Amino acid sequence: MAVSEEQVIRGVGHSVKRFEDGRFIRGRGNYFDDITLPGMLHLEFLRSPLAHARINGIDTSRAEAVPGVVAVVTGELLAQHNLAWMPTLSGDTQAVLATDKVRFQGQEVAAVIAESAYIAKDACELIDVDYEPLEAVTSPQQALAEGAPVIRDEKEGQTSNHIYDWEAGDKTATDHAFAEADKVVSLDTFYPRCHPAPLECCGCVADVDPATGKTTIYMTSQAPHAHRTLFALVAGIPEHKIRIISPDLGGGFGNKVPIYPGYVVATAASLLIGRPVKWVEDRTGNLISTGFARDYHMHGELALKEGRITGLRVNMLSDNGAFFADAQPTICKAGLFHIVTGSYDIPAAHVETEGAYTNKAPGGVAYRCSFRVTEASYLIERLVQNAAYELGVDPADFRKQNFIKPEQFPYKSATGFEYDSGDYGAAMEKTLEMLGYDDLRREQAEARAEGRLIGIGLASFTEVVGAGHGAEYKIAGLRMNDGAELRIHPTGKAVLKLSVKSQGQGHETTFAQIVAEELGLQPEDVEVQEGDTDHTPYGLGTYASRSTPVSGAATAMVSRRIRAKAQKIAAHLLEASEEDLEWQQGKFVVKGAPEKSTTIQDIAFAAYTNIPEGMEGGLEGVYYYDPPNMTFPFGTYAVVVEIDRGTGAWKVLRCVAVDDCGVRINPMIVEGQIMGGLTEGFAIAAMELIDFDEEGNCIGANLMDYLIPTAWETPKFELGETVTPSPHHPLGAKGVGESATVGAPAAFVNAVVDALAYAGVRNLEMPVTSDKVWAALQEAGLAE
Ligand code: CDP
Repeated sequence: MAVSEEQVIRGVGHSVKRFEDGRFIRGRGNYFDDITLPGMLHLEFLRSPLAHARINGIDTSRAEAVPGVVAVVTGELLAQHNLAWMPTLSGDTQAVLATDKVRFQGQEVAAVIAESAYIAKDACELIDVDYEPLEAVTSPQQALAEGAPVIRDEKEGQTSNHIYDWEAGDKTATDHAFAEADKVVSLDTFYPRCHPAPLECCGCVADVDPATGKTTIYMTSQAPHAHRTLFALVAGIPEHKIRIISPDLGGGFGNKVPIYPGYVVATAASLLIGRPVKWVEDRTGNLISTGFARDYHMHGELALKEGRITGLRVNMLSDNGAFFADAQPTICKAGLFHIVTGSYDIPAAHVETEGAYTNKAPGGVAYRCSFRVTEASYLIERLVQNAAYELGVDPADFRKQNFIKPEQFPYKSATGFEYDSGDYGAAMEKTLEMLGYDDLRREQAEARAEGRLIGIGLASFTEVVGAGHGAEYKIAGLRMNDGAELRIHPTGKAVLKLSVKSQGQGHETTFAQIVAEELGLQPEDVEVQEGDTDHTPYGLGTYASRSTPVSGAATAMVSRRIRAKAQKIAAHLLEASEEDLEWQQGKFVVKGAPEKSTTIQDIAFAAYTNIPEGMEGGLEGVYYYDPPNMTFPFGTYAVVVEIDRGTGAWKVLRCVAVDDCGVRINPMIVEGQIMGGLTEGFAIAAMELIDFDEEGNCIGANLMDYLIPTAWETPKFELGETVTPSPHHPLGAKGVGESATVGAPAAFVNAVVDALAYAGVRNLEMPVTSDKVWAALQEAGLAE
């Protein structure tokens, strides 16, 4: 009998249209800035115009005299409440409002709380700060040079700008591989500072109720539970008296993971004044002061022997800005950079990193990246491409020859990760086939003979996403685990509550599909709730593509737990023994008697009306998932470009992206994630840059200077997939949210380099602007 449309449960593997879009496209989303509370005040910051200066005094009297100003908050005032400094997620400290010095341009110096945002902004300009300018340190090299001014001189025992040294891998084995190599290929490159720049900037409404002592903070937070715990620890407010509500978010990309001074000052002000306080960050505030990404100087070397990679050596220098504020697992000071061996079977590797303070905004790991994976992927994919040129072999063949083979999984990398599963050759073959690689290489040669410069760039990235395992992966001491709570109501409709927080990734749809898959309800019958700490289970939140690997697994496991109870109820209803029942999606059937069955809806009703004697009522459960390992999605991207020899401008002719994120829960959402990620990867490679002049002035402080691609510049993408399930995830799924942003930049840069490689060009720094290409054309004698 044909299965009718209604009977098909649209669980895992169905491209269900996103439920949340109904409210987003009708303009009915609910963002923090939509929240207006009675008596609400507004907060605006006075930010430092200087990158490095001593503060000799702050006179707030003129600002305080402005009608409508309720309070002017300074660091000195916060210090009286022990709140002038706060801990960062990396265990450092960060100024909430500057007291002794300002340490980057745009740092928060004072805050005005007023009846309107306009009054607050105007009053900020009447605060008089006596600055004594100091030399600005704008690069980690300058920071670590002899005699550099010490930026963090307030820290006891801090006599330089050095933050950390960290290493991974085996130095002796790596040195040996290099001593035995018949060729060494090296690359010095810089992954520049860029910014996640979500459409919605950060902000909050803090509402401390003087009568009950309950603190409610509507806040742009990707990790509401972790933020609540940190608020409790830092401010001393009992945790159960804090409620963080992260409403709809207009994008996050990592920008909404750190705790910013705005959240703290608004909450402190609400507590002191007894009225709600709103802080809305403006675009410049967002670009110059909140979590940026990258800023990594990298040196990599590959040891090559008989066409194989036998060793990898890496040294990195990280510019962390004025406060070491990366959100990252505590065991790895340099994040998860040790995925730098990538997709390749490299027997020996050694990685050394050093971090430095500079007079720039803090951050480093944000922007669709699992804690420095993007930099690692970029480095190895650029190195591998250059190694192929030096050996005179095709870059695709060289990769294939050096890939970890499918039978080697689970694969232990030289830097300590255990890769769960992969088939890199399959993703590569699919990409080459979709691209028509061999024909394209021929066309490239023909075009070159005609004087046209075409380049083909590849990147075969491997990622690591889905932190924990909780025993090893913690942030600020909190295990990186997440909870899922599921309740099936009597009429068979369900509510799923999660600790993660979507910023536009479609969680309300995909997590409902997981419940649908496991229990046989339709996804429309499952409401997914996130973002309210009073009403969702604990967990560390959404970033680094961890929602599906961790909370997706928790959702599957809690559903299975409920199904186990449902089986007992079904046995009672069918008067059969549990063992005689067979689960068919959505119902239990008596084995050998298909006419005897009961649906999950009937069971749900019975859970509240007709349960076996002695059974606890209801049909609900909670599951906290501690992943046994992380997941390792991968893919191969190929980009074809043509360079204009007269201007250095390059345009993208093709972009083929084959991704493998294991089992796809919602293929349409996955494709959307990949297209967005490719757009960002292209943007980082081509145009996005937060730069500084030598006085530490931020260049890129608005969207006229910080270039974000529009649909006009964005290339067309051709997507493909392979499916290699994760063996340890209950659904075989791996994370995907950040894959394309991680994999794409190297493919774009490799494409431009490839067009010029025959003339000896091996590197172009991101963003690869036409002036840089023009200079390379000139140097190579190819300019027209
Ligand atoms: O943590 P975040 O939500 O940013 O990343 P993710 O876990 O990679 O998920 C991004 C979106 O893609 C979510 O809606 C996922 O449920 C969906 N996804 C999927 O449908 N199948 C996968 N294998 C991975 C993600």
